[in-house]
Amino acid sequence: MDWSGLTVGVTGGAGFIGSHLVDSLVDCGATVVVLDNFSSGKADQVPSSVRLVSGSVVDTTARSEALSGCDAIFHIAAIASVVACEEDPEKSASVNRDASLAILAEASCPVVFASSAAIYGNPQQLPVSESHPIEPLSHYGADKAAADAAIRSLGDSAPPAVAMRFFNVYGPRQDPSSPYSGVLSIFTTRAVTGEPVTIFGDGLQTRDFIHVTDVVDALVLSAESLLVEGTMSPLHSRAFNVCTGRPVTLLDVVSAIESNTGKMMQVTHEPTRAGDIRDSEGDPSALKEVLAWNPQVELEQGLADLLNAL
Ligand code: UD1
Repeated sequence: MDWSGLTVGVTGGAGFIGSHLVDSLVDCGATVVVLDNFSSGKADQVPSSVRLVSGSVVDTTARSEALSGCDAIFHIAAIASVVACEEDPEKSASVNRDASLAILAEASCPVVFASSAAIYGNPQQLPVSESHPIEPLSHYGADKAAADAAIRSLGDSAPPAVAMRFFNVYGPRQDPSSPYSGVLSIFTTRAVTGEPVTIFGDGLQTRDFIHVTDVVDALVLSAESLLVEGTMSPLHSRAFNVCTGRPVTLLDVVSAIESNTGKMMQVTHEPTRAGDIRDSEGDPSALKEVLAWNPQVELEQGLADLLNAL
């Protein structure tokens, strides 16, 4: 779709997922406004043509300055670290839950919300489809679940909105520097520097890794459906898994990196992290039914691209 003439607000647009989304929207011709407080985002990840509003999503004035008058809003900003949210549950509630509810309440245009697989808690069956019980194990998951539920309870008089439940997103610009960074950003960086990696547990835990470009495609296509069809869109007032349905073990990840670099990685094992989910595998079929979307990036290719860029 040509987005020329449309003004689009992206919260968290300077961060890992948000900045890739902004690049894509700019390529589609949209006028983009980013609201970011740079707690984890970086201004140099935002194209210079984009208006940057520096502020938190909890700040009513900043929200209004960035988002009022927009034709569509992508609400991506969050405290994305589960551990940080456990350490400061009040902050998680205010950023991840209350600000999200406020954005929904204030919006007069379509809203695409970044929800999370964390809302499911420990999977009761695999693959996890959208009808799986919502039983988050963390404050992060519970706060995302509150906004996800608010979207699912919207009626047809509300502006169109959808919740997109991200599984393990990876790709360029994911910060590897914290122990709670995405495992692929840590492992690829260390494979290049030759530093050892730690596997928590036996390495046979599985994850459904999805490349950020596939996530961005899902976000843009979902917004297009809401913009064109409004509350008649099959996405309105619903939630969808954003995943590949192709889980891999951490040991598979290490092997894939080793065959790419031709070097053995130094791997040590430590006990499983408290609260770690053993297996995660999403069912992407619902999103594929409503959008012309199919994840394109195979893990081997995504890892190769990451390693080449380092
Ligand atoms: C991910 C999300 C989290 C979300 C959850 C939903 C990321 C960064 N986190 O958590 O926001 O709530 O899915 O289910 O995407 N591991 C190691 N060594 C390391 C780092 C990690 O063995 O150095 C292991 C972890 O213990 C875990 C797996 O790798 O078993 C994946 O870890 P991580 O990338 O942090 O993501 P999740 O814990 O799945």
